[in-house]
Amino acid sequence: MLKWNEPLRIAPADFGELPISSMTKNYLEAAIEIAREAGKILVQELSRPLDIAYKGDEVDLVTQADKRSERLIVERLTKYFPDHAIAAEEGTGHESASASDFRWHVDPLDGTTNFAHGYPCFCVSIALAQRDGLLAAAVFNPFYNELFTAARGEGATFNGKKVHVSKVATLSTSLLCTGFPVRNRKASPNLRYYGEFTQRSHGVRRDGSAALDLASVASGRFDGFWEFGLQKWDTAAGVLLIAEAGGKVTDFAGNPYQLGGPVILATNGLIHEEMRAMALEISFRPRDPFRP
Ligand code: IPD
Ligand code: CA
Ligand code: CA
Repeated sequence: MLKWNEPLRIAPADFGELPISSMTKNYLEAAIEIAREAGKILVQELSRPLDIAYKGDEVDLVTQADKRSERLIVERLTKYFPDHAIAAEEGTGHESASASDFRWHVDPLDGTTNFAHGYPCFCVSIALAQRDGLLAAAVFNPFYNELFTAARGEGATFNGKKVHVSKVATLSTSLLCTGFPVRNRKASPNLRYYGEFTQRSHGVRRDGSAALDLASVASGRFDGFWEFGLQKWDTAAGVLLIAEAGGKVTDFAGNPYQLGGPVILATNGLIHEEMRAMALEISFRPRDPFRP
């Protein structure tokens, strides 16, 4: 079984025309290289006229940038790791023919709404899992050239420097972050949590990119984050970043967060139980029919 940082020994044919040096490419290096390349596409697309479509519901947008970025990522991962499965948001990934244990979770543009409005809080998010274990992660904001990476057992980095979660120890002195879904917005219970946490902390930001939100917890910019209904490609990279940066990720019941689970609570660990207790209390509070 390969460890994340062991050189890959794949037959030359699998790499096509790539140079010999690329045969020693490891998973994290591959994720970083591909995230940076995809990031170039996003920056190019940012200065072009917006080509936008709706994915069927309300404000669920997709742009040419999402599609071009995903095409590059899927092509490159398939070329480097032909046996790996790829789960990519815009649907162009694939299951592996050989039932490999390895699966890449790809969000080619996390923060599409921000991107479409020229608000430069968006990123490429790429993570590799082997069965249920996350091995490698890269989250890249190409506008600010900010790269967050993690590899299992090796820690997390921000632009090449090791990072750790914050040391803020109380909810009342914390800066939090959350997000709201782009589908079925009216069914989301999150406004109640948003209001309550806003009053119990230094504030709650809503930055519009779950992968960057999680990376910001890993690097100590935020102390805690929660959101309902995120997909595997939104959270896979960020979850590994936080675990490797010393934080904690669960659901509101305190169970380890499962990718694609209904709710995620990700913190620096120190405020986890306080946030969790607050979240549970809000969950069980009787609903006021006149308030969100
Ligand atoms: C969205 C962003 C946003 C979150 C939404 C996601 P997308 O992803 O991560 O922060 O609140 O729930 O759908 O659509 O921009 O890739
Ligand atoms: Ca996303
Ligand atoms: Ca996306």
